[in-house]
Amino acid sequence: MALNHSRSVKLNDGHFMPVLGFGTFASDELWSTFLRPEFVQPALEKSLTKLGLDYVDLFIIHWPVAMKPGDDLLPKDASGKIIFDTVDLRDTWEALEKCKDAGLTKSIGVSNFNHKQLEMILNKPGLKYKPVCNQVECHPYLNQSKLLEFCKSKDIVVVAYSALGSHRDPNWVEKDSPYLLEDPILNAVAKKHKRSPGQIALRYQVQRGVVVLAKSFNEKRIKENFQIFDFELTPEDMKAIDGLNRNFRYAKLLFAVDHPYYPFSEEY
Ligand SMILES: NC(=O)c1ccc[n+]([C@@H]2O[C@H](COP(=O)([O-])OP(=O)(O)OC[C@H]3O[C@@H](n4cnc5c(N)ncnc54)[C@H](OP(=O)(O)O)[C@@H]3O)[C@@H](O)[C@H]2O)c1
Repeated sequence: MALNHSRSVKLNDGHFMPVLGFGTFASDELWSTFLRPEFVQPALEKSLTKLGLDYVDLFIIHWPVAMKPGDDLLPKDASGKIIFDTVDLRDTWEALEKCKDAGLTKSIGVSNFNHKQLEMILNKPGLKYKPVCNQVECHPYLNQSKLLEFCKSKDIVVVAYSALGSHRDPNWVEKDSPYLLEDPILNAVAKKHKRSPGQIALRYQVQRGVVVLAKSFNEKRIKENFQIFDFELTPEDMKAIDGLNRNFRYAKLLFAVDHPYYPFSEEY
């Protein structure tokens, strides 16, 4: 796949990732019911068959909480409670390393890991490959500055999801959550640059060294979200947007709060 490297970031394994994610970069996520090492490669192979691909650019662990293996992607007991599993994530990581060695993915990474969980992987005896990225919820209300600093120090790219304030799916997001794109400061910066608040939220991430995902099914907004490379936020704009941080998480995933690897109880 030909990539314009000026709009890409070099990963710690030598591959490149576009700084703005639009689906040109093939990635796959390992779901929670497949975290046991013996299920990792078969899960990826199944996805590749479905996608009609020989390999993906990136394969990531979706989040550190393991659930009971089986056909049910959200296994629940009779009372409706999710059934968890206990898996050593270092074993899962070794299985991802094997997928890379088998040529099924160019790069491997994680998602929703806190810094302690990243450290656990980085300090694993015999580590062959570091995670190239950590994909996390990240936007002006949850700017992840400490996690970003930690990841930068380890040459791990932070990838922001819900960068526009999330899809607000009522299954995952409380309906009284604040509307990021209605924020007055974000709107004032947008007005100053004659851009939309969405473009400002995306540009903010790119400018602080975060790869950003922008999801839209709307043609006009897809085009709009791509127009973020022909203007620059000033240091004052960046400071004002940084000031919006309130550590507010849209997807708290509280159903897993009792799992030993629930990632969001840590400060970062
Ligand atoms: N690893 C994880 O745990 C995880 C979790 C959640 C999401 N993700 C990934 O992150 C991606 C995006 O995250 P997300 O869906 O939560 O939220 P998001 O990108 O913050 O927001 C998407 C929503 O914003 C709207 N939108 C898009 N561009 C806009 C613009 N310029 N102005 C106003 N509204 C705009 C979209 O509606 P329209 O379609 O109508 O434009 C859509 O409803 C997903 O595709 C997924 O791959 C990963």
